[in-house]
Amino acid sequence: MTATQTPPQLDRFGFNKTDGAPPKRPASPDGWVPIRNLHARHRARILDHLLQLDEHDRYLRFGFQASQEQVARYVASIDFRRDEVFGIFNGRLQLVAVAHLAAMPGGDARGSDASRGRAMEFGVSVLKQGRGKGLGSRMFQHAIMHARNRHASHLMIHALSENAPMLRIAAKAGATVERDGPEAEAWLKLPPDTTFSHIDSSLQSLAAEAIYRVKYQMLHASDWLRLLITSA
Ligand SMILES: CC(C)(COP(=O)(O)OP(=O)(O)OC[C@H]1O[C@@H](n2cnc3c(N)ncnc32)[C@H](O)[C@@H]1OP(=O)(O)O)[C@@H](O)C(=O)NCCC(=O)NCCS
Repeated sequence: MTATQTPPQLDRFGFNKTDGAPPKRPASPDGWVPIRNLHARHRARILDHLLQLDEHDRYLRFGFQASQEQVARYVASIDFRRDEVFGIFNGRLQLVAVAHLAAMPGGDARGSDASRGRAMEFGVSVLKQGRGKGLGSRMFQHAIMHARNRHASHLMIHALSENAPMLRIAAKAGATVERDGPEAEAWLKLPPDTTFSHIDSSLQSLAAEAIYRVKYQMLHASDWLRLLITSA
C-alpha cells in the first residue's frame, strides 16, 4: 500500500500545498529558511497575518480571546525601535510566520539601564498551512541569536499550559518551563553574544532581504509576462 502512495506536494519552503493534512517534516529539516526583519512599514502585513489566525490560535498567541480591534491595537503599538519583529514569506510573498521579540517591561535588553532586567519576550505565530515544518523552531532559534546580540540574559515565553507545540519548542532549546494552572512561562538562559553571532545575524538578514527582492522581481516579471501574453 505504501509503495503506491505519492508524496505530498510541497512548495519551495516544504509547505504542504493542501491544508488540513497532518503536519509532516520537510525533506530537509536542517535547511536554512530566510527570515526577514520587519519594520514599521510592514504593520499592515503583520496585521493581515494575525487576522488570518483563527479564534483559537489568537487565543493561544495572545493568551486571551483577542478581537480584531485588539489585534489591530497590538500591531499599532509595536515599537520597532525597541523591539525586533521578523517574518517568513512564502513564494507568493505572503507572511506565513511572524515573531515579535520584545524588550520586557521594566527592562532594557540593550542594557542601557543597569537597574533593570535584561530579558526579552518571544511571541510567534505560524499560519496553519506552515505548521509542523520546523518554522516555529527556526523563528525561536533566530530570536535567540537576536536576543543575545541585544545583550539579553534570558528569553521568556509566556504561553498557555495547553500550548504543547510552543512549550515543546522552548523545552527543546533548553528552556525551563514553569506551569501555573492554565498558564506557563518558559525561561531560557542565553549565552553572551560573540563576534560570530553578530556576523551570522547580519549575513542572515542580508541574505533574507536579497532573496525577498529576487522573489519580488520574479513575481512581478511573471505578472508582466502574463499581461504581455494575454494582450498580444
Ligand atoms: C506554536 C506554533 C508557532 C508552532 O509552529 P510550528 O511551525 O508548527 O512549530 P515547529 O514545527 O517548529 O515545532 C512544533 C513542535 O511541537 C511538536 N508538537 C506539535 N503538536 C504537538 C502536540 N500536540 N503535543 C506535543 N508536541 C507537539 C512538534 O512535533 C514539534 O516538535 P519536534 O520539532 O520535536 O517534532 C504554531 O502552532 C502557532 O502559530 N500556534 C498559534 C499561535 C501560538 O500558539 N503562538 C505561541 C504563543 S507565543
